[in-house]
Amino acid sequence: MTNRNVLDTEATHILQTYKRTPIVFSRGRGIHLYDDEGKEYTDLVSGIGVASLGHAHPRLAAAIDEQAKALLHTSNLYYHPLQGQLAARLTELSGLPRSFFCNSGSEAVEACLKFARRYWHTEGDVSRTEVVALENSFHGRTLGALSTTWEKSYRRPFEPLVPGVRFVPREATALTEAISTNTQVVIVEPLQGEGGVRPLSKNIAHTIQKACDDTGALLITDEVQCGLGRTGRPFYFQALDLRPDLISVGKALGAGVPIGAALVGERVAAAVAYGDHGSTYGGNLLACRAALVFLEELMDRGLLGHIVTIGALAHQQLQKLANRHPSIIDIRGEGVMWGIEIDGNTDATAIVTAALKRCLLINRTAGNVIRLLPPLTITEDELSTALATLEAAVAEAEARAS
Ligand SMILES: Cc1ncc(COP(=O)(O)O)c(C=O)c1O
Repeated sequence: MTNRNVLDTEATHILQTYKRTPIVFSRGRGIHLYDDEGKEYTDLVSGIGVASLGHAHPRLAAAIDEQAKALLHTSNLYYHPLQGQLAARLTELSGLPRSFFCNSGSEAVEACLKFARRYWHTEGDVSRTEVVALENSFHGRTLGALSTTWEKSYRRPFEPLVPGVRFVPREATALTEAISTNTQVVIVEPLQGEGGVRPLSKNIAHTIQKACDDTGALLITDEVQCGLGRTGRPFYFQALDLRPDLISVGKALGAGVPIGAALVGERVAAAVAYGDHGSTYGGNLLACRAALVFLEELMDRGLLGHIVTIGALAHQQLQKLANRHPSIIDIRGEGVMWGIEIDGNTDATAIVTAALKRCLLINRTAGNVIRLLPPLTITEDELSTALATLEAAVAEAEARAS
């Protein structure tokens, strides 16, 4: 099928929810993607933080091949050997004793919200009707997750949503006022991704944790984007001294194979009973096998340490970039998750377009922010080369704007 055919067939048959960039990718290797004419692109998007081990990772490919030849799926009616192993590894990293497996980040958030509700039902506390979320949050597109997502244009066309959600700014007084004995659960991204790569400050994290402790409200940290190594730590809540009751994960976990998980603390786990929640695919052998390979790479084969080194280099180089380019007004992030905020005179989309012309894939998030989410495996040389290309794209967009 030629490129034109792919686009035409999609235009006719695919529900038009995505405005895609007109490139057809059919192959990848490491941090590179190749279009249908063989042209090479450098991928600093990694399928929005999913291709954590890069593309066509040899160990992952071999494990998937082996698993496909043995057994892919049995449903959750029966046992298989990998789900418990994966859950035990996630417990080592998070400190939360139990996992519920699903297939995406939104489903993981959805499960966390349901388990939080279930907890208060078990407690018999009917006054807990509120959920507190932060302004600029993104937690997904399913109805429960969408109800806690800040962007109005995503929510409005689907109202009425789940009631009782309060969006609160990152401000101590507002948070302390909003989190009360009516609050079921507070949901936060420790480092917001879609909202413009915005980490919570330690002070605000402390305020949230204290308010949860004082009122008994549960805490969900949504680590779908920032968790599992992306910032050089297993989870970003660990950098902020938060103590979540529930954690949602997804994206990087399967390194491209769809899997999500709700990680659940003892207090909530004790309230959940057989039949309370379920997923046909959740935690099947293929997804668990891929996730186990990913966690081996991250924790046993040096990837986490590599991300710390790359993160320091990225910070240094991005800071220099910002010093040379007046359009860059802020650099935020850690490890291999960076936001570059551009001033109002230069359009971040123009930088994305100028980068694409140079075969560099980056994207724009909320506001005028360029986001970099490369594979966790990006090398120092690859990073330096990519950032030199990014600089040329920034310069082009600045020149156009002036
Ligand atoms: C923090 C966060 N939570 C939830 C989601 C939803 O994940 P998914 O798109 O896999 O459903 C995302 C996706 O970007 C996310 O960044």
